Amino acid sequence: MISIPKGTKDVLPQESYKWQYVEGVARKIAKDFNLKEIRTPVFEHTELFLRGVGDTTDIVNKEMYTFKDKGDRSITLKPEGTAGVARSYIENGLSNSPMPVKMFYIIPAFRYERPQAGRLREFHQFGIEVYGSPSPDADAEVISAAALFLDRLGIKKVKLNINSIGCKTCRAQYNAALKEYLFPHLNEMCATCRERFDKNPLRILDCKEEGCKKVTAGAPRMLDYLCDDCASHFKKVQQYLTAGGIEYSIDPNIVRGLDYYTKTVFEFVSEDIGAQGTVCGGGRYDGLIEELGGNATPAVGFAVGLERLLLLMENTGAYFPADEGPDVFFAGMDEASRAKAFSFACTVRANGGSAECDHMGRSLKAQFKYADKIGAKYVIVLGESEMASGVCSAKRMADGAITELKFEDIPAFFAK
Ligand code: HAM
Repeated sequence: MISIPKGTKDVLPQESYKWQYVEGVARKIAKDFNLKEIRTPVFEHTELFLRGVGDTTDIVNKEMYTFKDKGDRSITLKPEGTAGVARSYIENGLSNSPMPVKMFYIIPAFRYERPQAGRLREFHQFGIEVYGSPSPDADAEVISAAALFLDRLGIKKVKLNINSIGCKTCRAQYNAALKEYLFPHLNEMCATCRERFDKNPLRILDCKEEGCKKVTAGAPRMLDYLCDDCASHFKKVQQYLTAGGIEYSIDPNIVRGLDYYTKTVFEFVSEDIGAQGTVCGGGRYDGLIEELGGNATPAVGFAVGLERLLLLMENTGAYFPADEGPDVFFAGMDEASRAKAFSFACTVRANGGSAECDHMGRSLKAQFKYADKIGAKYVIVLGESEMASGVCSAKRMADGAITELKFEDIPAFFAK
């Protein structure tokens, strides 16, 4: 038997309704915030991610699914959604649309990571990206969309943490101060962080190793180095969040795992799903479009990991609407009534209802049992007497109530 690749998962027929529910709520959020769907390819030129996500990040250095195609081009399965959206925005001249350009996506993403609960090699994201507004209210609106999404799914125990990692100018000053502080402690830190010291010192703040955590506990904080513009932006984001009734905490250690962020960064975290507790991550990235060759364009967005979200919903007993069965099951007994059952099922579907009939040659009793198992709302038996009279009984399975129906009234009864 050929088994599924490590770090991937099947979504089986009996659980796909949960995905459809979550995706439906995501689409409704998108509609309520006037975000339009953007669909970009599952693979892109590798260079997009080297420049977009950043060549000092773990994602680019260790985790990408990169291969040569038959035309000898380096191709990468997208490890996240933002870079592809930015590429498409530039390539398709979306800057000519009315601003801000507000987009969302539901995508598979691929990262070669060590699989564990909530961490897969193929996973899915619901993401939004808003282009064109430099204002702190755009940051707050994006954060409020994530908060409302989680709230509508009945997720209560998540915490919103925010931080600002400044702009190019103030971050350069901070990096210098951070490096000066860290230098004497280099041999107390893990090998990865020693590498990060030169390339991307900010990431050291995010390390989970005990030794590194001890060192960084006393490190200078980015928030104390923000320039006036970044400090005022961050203050206003907080004012807007408060105005929107959104609770948050400031976590000066959030730095995010991707290089494109500027100013606001945020994460929604839960303690109910183990080590991989970040359900949603995002922030502002005012330099990315220019970095990829477009005109300077401010941008802000987030992505929610759908596997982590579903895990959280399951672990906290969040509500899922029941998987719906068909409106009606038509049971036939002999060849003529089975043909009639088939024809009624066709008519009901043609009128917008959902219907089932037997394809397994089951006895009448077994057909009833099956109809019950699949959650049919009504069952109609077409026996000899029904075929003769042209009248049948629709049995409502929830309470056993019977409605007498003439054959010609069946389509209207189940029409939608
Ligand atoms: P990210 O933090 O790398 O950000 O990923 C966002 C979310 O995707 C995470 O919070 C997590 O829920 C989920 N996720 C990431 N890696 C995995 C994995 N291996 N297995 C399962 N779930 C995972 C981004 O991807 C940015 N593009 C977000 C963004 C959009 N920033 C601005 N716009």
